[in-house]
Amino acid sequence: MESIVVQGGRKLSGSVVIDGAKNSALPLIAATLLAASGSCRLENVPDLRDINTIVHLLAGMGAAIERQGSSLNITTTAVENCQAPYDLVKTMRASILVLGPLLARFGQARVSLPGGCAIGARPVNLHIKGLEMMGARIRVEHGYIIGQAERLQGADISFDVTTVTGTENLMMAAVLADGVTVLRNAAREPEIVDLAVFLRKMGALIEGEGTHTITISGVEKLIAANHQVMPDRIEAGTFMVAAGISDGDVIIENAPLAAMGGVVTKLQEIGLLVEALAPSKEDAVLAGVAVRIRRGSAGLRGLDVKTMPYPGFPTDMQAQVMVLLALAEGTSVISETIFENRFMHVFELQRMGAAIEVEGRSAIVRGVKGLSGAPVMASDLRASAGLVLAGLAAEGETVMSRVYHLDRGYAGFEKKLKLLGADIERIKA
Ligand code: EPZ
Repeated sequence: MESIVVQGGRKLSGSVVIDGAKNSALPLIAATLLAASGSCRLENVPDLRDINTIVHLLAGMGAAIERQGSSLNITTTAVENCQAPYDLVKTMRASILVLGPLLARFGQARVSLPGGCAIGARPVNLHIKGLEMMGARIRVEHGYIIGQAERLQGADISFDVTTVTGTENLMMAAVLADGVTVLRNAAREPEIVDLAVFLRKMGALIEGEGTHTITISGVEKLIAANHQVMPDRIEAGTFMVAAGISDGDVIIENAPLAAMGGVVTKLQEIGLLVEALAPSKEDAVLAGVAVRIRRGSAGLRGLDVKTMPYPGFPTDMQAQVMVLLALAEGTSVISETIFENRFMHVFELQRMGAAIEVEGRSAIVRGVKGLSGAPVMASDLRASAGLVLAGLAAEGETVMSRVYHLDRGYAGFEKKLKLLGADIERIKA
């Protein structure tokens, strides 16, 4: 088991480049299953455990996948095994994203029902309901979703709850369906827009991505295409907090600012200075903007945060902003409206001296003068990032165990922080 050891108190400085977005690369890789001919090239794909899991999943189906640096070449013409086995799906719930493309292109799928995870039950009932409305015959047997469809039919589908991967799964199901599909109350995340752009390059007819209503006219066949994964807005937000919490001065080379409205506004209200510089030198490639992050002279001010579907404040930044508010002046109320159990980092932060109380779906954060380093345990991906950020600001040493949670969503997180001046190491405990 590995741990991360941080000696707190260093002010970060220098510049960092953000990787491609995990939550865009995952649906994009699943979407390559829709290509009946040719080879897809996805660029700026982050080197993460979750990416390796879905690559392993597609290879097991018969896809040919070759990684060249940060690019993946994926050929799915020879796919014949339409299965997503339990031993892979249990390690990464987003494997459910192969269900829609498999049913769309092959008319069959056997995908392990994703279990819950640390942050909540994470049901996929809306994915299944939408596919059944499109004519798929679906049953759940021995923990597997088994689906069949001669050809999916276009349908008018309204989501009871806004779901990111539910929207993505049904978009990918609809692009080869017979007729028109309308997705209402669709998620509006930037990663969904990234997926729509890729599907359109493959020949799909899609309108409305990024709004609550997406309309898709099914076509007979899609062909392979190339695409550049957008920068990761959550990794960018995490490094903004790292700069602010360490009272540093950091340049993020390629922040997808256009996709970070809710986060940047909130961080500025807390007291960070977010200054857009000239477009990043690789602007055409990484589609980001260079931004300089510092803490303003007024220090950090507590305020309320409520996680919401995009373009609201993202739940994936909740742990990170909580750590910043733990050191802010005054009291903050953080309401987690998306997942029912996403406060496990609170109990670890309390061990570091944070004054936080959980009341139902809210956390009451009373700012303290400082945190103290302590041994802590990661519980989920974003909580683990938050605990490392806390260690940057804490007095003394913080040792975070269960680093595998962090590796699911951040490539070389401690290496990037070390390059920015943090005293941080990964050790084999
Ligand atoms: C995506 O998860 C992200 N994962 C999550 O990021 C992110 O936290 C989440 O969206 C919310 O933004 C990927 O994109 C791979 P949802 P997803 O379906 O799609 C309920 C990370 O840290 N729901 O939008 O699984 C669900 O219970 C991860 O990178 C149903 O009830 O989330 C939740 O309360 C964590 N039935 C709400 O909708 C369904 O069929 C939103 O979940 C589907 C969802």
